[in-house]
Amino acid sequence: MSRLIVNGQPVQYRLDPRTPLLFALREASNLTGAKYGCGTGHCGACTVHVDGQAVRSCQVAIADCEGSQVTTIEGLAANRAHPVQQAFLAANLVQCGFCIPGMVMATAALVDRGQASADQDIDGALTNICRCGVYPRLREAIRTALQARGGPVQAAPQAAPAAEPAPVPEPPGAQPGDEIVTPTE
Ligand code: FES
Ligand code: FES
Repeated sequence: MSRLIVNGQPVQYRLDPRTPLLFALREASNLTGAKYGCGTGHCGACTVHVDGQAVRSCQVAIADCEGSQVTTIEGLAANRAHPVQQAFLAANLVQCGFCIPGMVMATAALVDRGQASADQDIDGALTNICRCGVYPRLREAIRTALQARGGPVQAAPQAAPAAEPAPVPEPPGAQPGDEIVTPTE
């Protein structure tokens, strides 16, 4: 028997201890948000949090999660209130949706740690596969979520403020009201 805390609730799985966490969550706990994509640890569709870390649940046995806190997309936040969920909604990011629970969980772990700031950080840390290609909007959503969390964000380049024109020196002997002609090139 394997004892875990799943979305805040104690759970005992009477399953083969080698059972992948993904199968236990989906088939024994009826938590079907995490998806079976590749089954080989590559796509990230099965991502959940184990003790706060993003984990590909098809690759970890329930015996290895003994006593751990497991969070699935269903338990991430009430009413989709996590900044990542809000940012995904605001960016209208979802296409077919298959990868999205895993994307949200992987992104949430990244944002909650506040580590990604530049596109290279995001691309390096988030290796989930989306066959619909939502990656450009995903980066925007991550920046938005980081800002909502108060984490580091690479500021968009700002245009330099326009310089005030230098005052034209008055020629010697000029009187108030005299028109001053500025030489042009
Ligand atoms: S199903 Fe787990 S990484 Fe693809
Ligand atoms: S939204 Fe379709 S696979 Fe990512």
